[in-house]
Amino acid sequence: MAELFDEIVNLSKRRGFVFQSADIYGGFRSAYDYGPIGVLMLRNVKDQWWRSMVQLRSDVVGLDASILAPPAVWEASGHLASFTDPLVDCRECGARHRLDKLEDAEQCPTCNKRGTFTEARDFNLMFKTQAGPVAETAADVYLRPETAQGIFVNFANVLTTSRKKPPFGIAQVGKSFRNEITPGNFVFRTREFEQMEMEYFVPPDQADQWYEYWCNERMDWYRDLGIAADQLRLRPHADDELSHYSSATSDVEYLFPWGWDELEGIANRGDFDLRQHAEHSGAKLEYFDQATNERYIPHVIEPAAGATRTMLAFLMDSYAVDSVNGEDRTVLRLDPRLAPHKVAVLPLSRKDTLLPTAREVFDLVSPHWMSDYDETQAIGRRYRRQDEIGTPLCVTVDFDTLEDRAVTVRDRDTTEQDRVSIDRLEDYLRGRLGF
Ligand code: GAP
Repeated sequence: MAELFDEIVNLSKRRGFVFQSADIYGGFRSAYDYGPIGVLMLRNVKDQWWRSMVQLRSDVVGLDASILAPPAVWEASGHLASFTDPLVDCRECGARHRLDKLEDAEQCPTCNKRGTFTEARDFNLMFKTQAGPVAETAADVYLRPETAQGIFVNFANVLTTSRKKPPFGIAQVGKSFRNEITPGNFVFRTREFEQMEMEYFVPPDQADQWYEYWCNERMDWYRDLGIAADQLRLRPHADDELSHYSSATSDVEYLFPWGWDELEGIANRGDFDLRQHAEHSGAKLEYFDQATNERYIPHVIEPAAGATRTMLAFLMDSYAVDSVNGEDRTVLRLDPRLAPHKVAVLPLSRKDTLLPTAREVFDLVSPHWMSDYDETQAIGRRYRRQDEIGTPLCVTVDFDTLEDRAVTVRDRDTTEQDRVSIDRLEDYLRGRLGF
């Protein structure tokens, strides 16, 4: 399993999924850059989330709130006081660790000495900066550690403009920042990452039923996009694990090479956030139900997922090595919806006679699907390259194409090939891809 981790890190760099940030300066450990292939896949993960959470639902609307927010927001949310992890220093080697993540609370995993830790102290994970040009007069501001608060502070704006009524949700995808004590496991835990969060506002007496509903919905989303059932589980939090705002939380966990770990938390946040922001801001954050003549603060069910972490799980889950014609090949068996390129157009040779038709085919398919075009190297090697980045279908233009106006379509998983006329190609690909 540890090998799988190394393979994914290597593949990510080799094929342009993920690069270490500031690579040429020796790397910046806690941040990563998404390369030409990775940016496509990460976007697909976010688009699939948005499609299922917003596009296909009439009860959820979207939002894109600012990343910077003033201290008042974080005071009300409880982040200034409670968004902390317990930090210990090793007196022997100086390493810093998160106490709650240590396998043995007495032993330093860096130098293996026992009994060398300082007293644990609460370390606040928020990144603080200053707004305005003059340091002395500048106001403190914080980079958001979750996208959720931007949704709560916009509750009244969205309620009045969207004309929704509970149960309804507000969804947001975007960057969040946490000054993690121990970032690590590649893009699993970083200081800058992307979240996909939805706050679902419900009448208080419906909170339990909607909590169950969202736990099931979210598990289905991962399974539908191809995560193997035995690699995924829903784990309810024990009482002592619950966040300061939550009365019930379940984590969607994936079996990573280092063990089960969190992809998403689904939390029953009660009315904590709206009540806090109402008290601190003086705004009325309630819903008035005209049918019953009742005024109430909605309760909130929150499915909160990490986009970057989820992409890593999809990469690991789809990774396979099999044998084609007696030769090993690496293949990402990604669902076509997540695959960076859906189609690759490959002229059999770089002979001038083939290239215009190959370009014509690329121009035919690229308006419909994200497509690659590659005329370098032998065709076998180009198939392997496409297999490695999970391209479901390769379209090869060969010398017969000039006679019969047909191309060969090769399937990534079976490597079987079909001959298809260019006239029918668009319909054929749509049938194969399913969109
Ligand atoms: N609004 C609730 C909230 O933020 P969370 O469990 O702290 O809950 C939600 O975060 C998701 O965000 C996590 O399940 C994880 O997928 C992702 N996430 C959190 N911290 C992360 C980090 N340092 N690096 C990458 N992803 C992270």
